Order: sequence, then C-alpha cells, then structure tokens
Amino acid sequence: MEKFIILGGRRLSGKVRASTSKNATLPIMAASLLSEEPTIIKNAPKLTDVETMMEMLTALGVKVKKEGKNLYIDPSGRLNPEAPYEIVKRMRASYYVLGSLLGRMRRAKVAFPGGCAIGPRPIDLHLKGMERLGAKVKIEHGFIIAEASSLKGAEMTLEGPSGSSVGATCNVMLAATLAKGRTVIRCAACEPEVVDLASFLNKMGAKIRGAGTPVITIDGVKRLKGVEYKPIPDRIETATLLVAGVITRGEVEVTHCIPEHLRSVLEKLEEAGAEIELSKNSIRVRISERPKSLRITTAPYPGFPTDMQAQFMALLSLASNTSIITETIFEARFLHALELGRMGADITLEANRAIIKGVEKLTGAPVMASDLRASAALVLAGLAAEGRTDVSRIYHLDRGYEHLEKKLNSLGASIRREEE
Ligand code: EPU
Repeated sequence: MEKFIILGGRRLSGKVRASTSKNATLPIMAASLLSEEPTIIKNAPKLTDVETMMEMLTALGVKVKKEGKNLYIDPSGRLNPEAPYEIVKRMRASYYVLGSLLGRMRRAKVAFPGGCAIGPRPIDLHLKGMERLGAKVKIEHGFIIAEASSLKGAEMTLEGPSGSSVGATCNVMLAATLAKGRTVIRCAACEPEVVDLASFLNKMGAKIRGAGTPVITIDGVKRLKGVEYKPIPDRIETATLLVAGVITRGEVEVTHCIPEHLRSVLEKLEEAGAEIELSKNSIRVRISERPKSLRITTAPYPGFPTDMQAQFMALLSLASNTSIITETIFEARFLHALELGRMGADITLEANRAIIKGVEKLTGAPVMASDLRASAALVLAGLAAEGRTDVSRIYHLDRGYEHLEKKLNSLGASIRREEE
C-alpha cells in the first residue's frame, strides 16, 4: 500500500487542468455495450475505477484496450451476462452493467453490491426501475438476476428518501434505450453526469429528451451504433483543486472545466471570502484571509454536492467562526471528521450534522483515508497544516483523482508518494 507524505504550509499558486469526469466515464463505458459496434472514449481519466470498469467489461466478453488517453471498446459478438462479485465488490458503479446487459441481452446477473464506507447505499430504485420495464428481478446467492422476454417502456418515479438517484436514473436510461415504446422517468437526477450519459446515448442513436430536468423521456430504438465520445470534465476534481487554492490562501486557476457545473460550490467559496473569476472554461480563486464560516446542506444537483462535503469540512476547520454542515445524501459520510480531529480540527458530530469550530491552525499528523472524498479532505488539510502529514491508504484516492499529487505539486505543494 502507498501513502502520501505532505509537507504543509505552502501557498499554492498557478494553473492546472481538469481531468475527465470519473462519474461520467463509468456509466458511458457500461453504455458502450448496448451497441454491437466499437466505441472510442476519448481522453479517459487514468483512474483505478476506470481500470476496474475495463476489467468488468472484459469479464463480460467485451474487448477493451487503452491506447494513450483513449479507450477502445469493442462489444461485438456474444457476451456473458454475468458480472462477478470479485469486481463489483471493488467498485459499486459496476452495477451500471445491469441496465446495459438487460437492454442488450434481456438478461443480467450482477453481484449485489454490499456495504460501503460512506454508509448504507440501497439499490431498491434500480431494481424498481428494471421491474417497471417488465423485467423479473430476484436476488439469489448474492446476485441480482434480472430477466425479461421483452422490455417495455413504462412510467416511473425514481424518488428515494433524499430525492433523486444518479445511479438509478442512469441504469434505467441504459435499459430503456432498447425497450419497446416510451419510458418516462420522474424525479430523475439532474446531475451533469446524467446529462452526459444521455448525450452519449443520443449520439449512439438513442432518443432521450429532458436529461438535466426531473422528467426524462426515452423513446426506445431497435439498435445503437458505436461512436467516438469525449466525456465532460470532472467537476468534483475541479472543485477539490479550487479548495486546495483557498485552504492554502493561494491563487489557483483550473482550466478545461465547466464553471456552470459548479455554481453551488463557487457560491460557497465566495461566501467564505474567496474572489472568483470565471471565463468560459476556467475558474480562478484567490483568498488572502482566513475563510469565513459557512452553513452547508448537501443536496442533489444543482444543490451542494455530497462529493464536496469532506473537502469543505477540511476548509471550514480553519474558518474564523463556527460552521455547520448537514449531510442529507449519505448521512453517515463523516469518517473524515475523526481523522481531521487528529490534525487539530474541532468537529462535533450530531446525527447527520457536523459542527465545525474553526481553529487557527491545523498540525500535521499521520491519518488514514477511509473513502475517496475523505482522502481528498485529508490531503487538503495536510496542505494547510503545519509540518508533516502522512495520509495512508491512498488507494482510495487513486480510484477517483488522476495524478492528484502531481497536479498539486505543479502548484507548489510538497507531496511525496511512498510505499508504506
Ligand atoms: N438511493 C436509494 N435507493 C437507490 C439508490 C439510491 O435510496 O436505489 C439513495 C441513496 O442512499 C442516497 C441517494 O439516493 O441517499 C442518492 O444516491 P445516488 O443513487 O444518487 O448515488 P450513486 O448513484 O450511488 C453517485 C456517485 C457518487 C455520488 C452520488 C451522489 C457515481 C459512480 N457515484 O452515486 O459519487 O456521491 O451519486 O451525487 O456516479 C464519489 O465519486 O466519490 C461518489 C461516491
């Protein structure tokens, strides 16, 4: 296992380029098997999660190779509709092949994703969606088995306890593109990654309208073609790099991003005292004082993303006053709070709320990453802390951030990767 050794206290400044979105690339990779023709995904991010999805597609009989930054996916020929536990357990997003396999083969056997470090993550809405399309779904020996003699378009409301679901919206969209007739998803997730999947599917020949709004309409088509596609930039990586600039009281510009996707995050950074400058494809932040305290409640897009909650907790640990973060999407997603405490942060947890009393400084300490975004929060805290921080188990980070230490070092950070 590898760890990061961070020497904190350096002000970051400079320009850095956003990578391609993990959470857009993964469902698009799964979607490519809906066609029998080859697809090229351009500028794919170099992430362990993308490698895991490549392994998954290979296990299903799809030919996948990476050349340079592009992924070549050839889903022609007979596929094996079984997604093994060995792969699903490493990455929940593997369950996107449920929708694609059901769409293409009318049969899917996908290992049931188990627990997760960010708390309970039910999949009832995914299963409900498949059933509404006419599939018979059963859970047996740790697998979800979904079968249908034919898939028929249907109306459905995919609403969970905290609103829409990105995964369920994408999974149903995948299966419904090749169903007979019209499917209407109400309470659909509006995240940019859902819109990007719809754009990809439409380029393949699907007929999807309304992506980005709470009502998505899918008119089933007979077949889809292979295409070349470049997914959107990663809004969470972009925002994490911006927070790196703010937490070190520096000046950072992230280029090749889509500012529109980050409205709620930018508003919070501005409220904290950062100056923000936007151009068409880049965002620059600058701050010279201690950040002001904030109240943040996570919500589905366009609300404040749960995937930025941990990074903001690191930032608010250093705020001039007391902040409150309420997590409404994954209510137990707070493991980073305890590790931040090891660095001197003053955080109290009450059910799904974190009360963060800003301290003047954090001090470097050995800390342990528990999930992807929690790891990012610890790295950010380490950049701002006095002295040395060792972040162990950074394999979590490599799942979703492309060369994070290289990007941060190019802005003036001091991060070394070492074998533990
Ligand atoms: N939910 C249900 N039933 C379901 C599905 C979801 O009740 O069948 C609930 C969840 O428990 C949660 C809420 O709905 O309370 C939203 O979950 P959602 O389904 O939207 O999350 P997801 O699709 O499992 C994706 C991202 C996550 C991100 C969430 C929320 C991918 C691969 N994952 O997960 O990203 O936090 O949306 O925006 O796109 C990450 O990148 O670190 C990450 C965890």
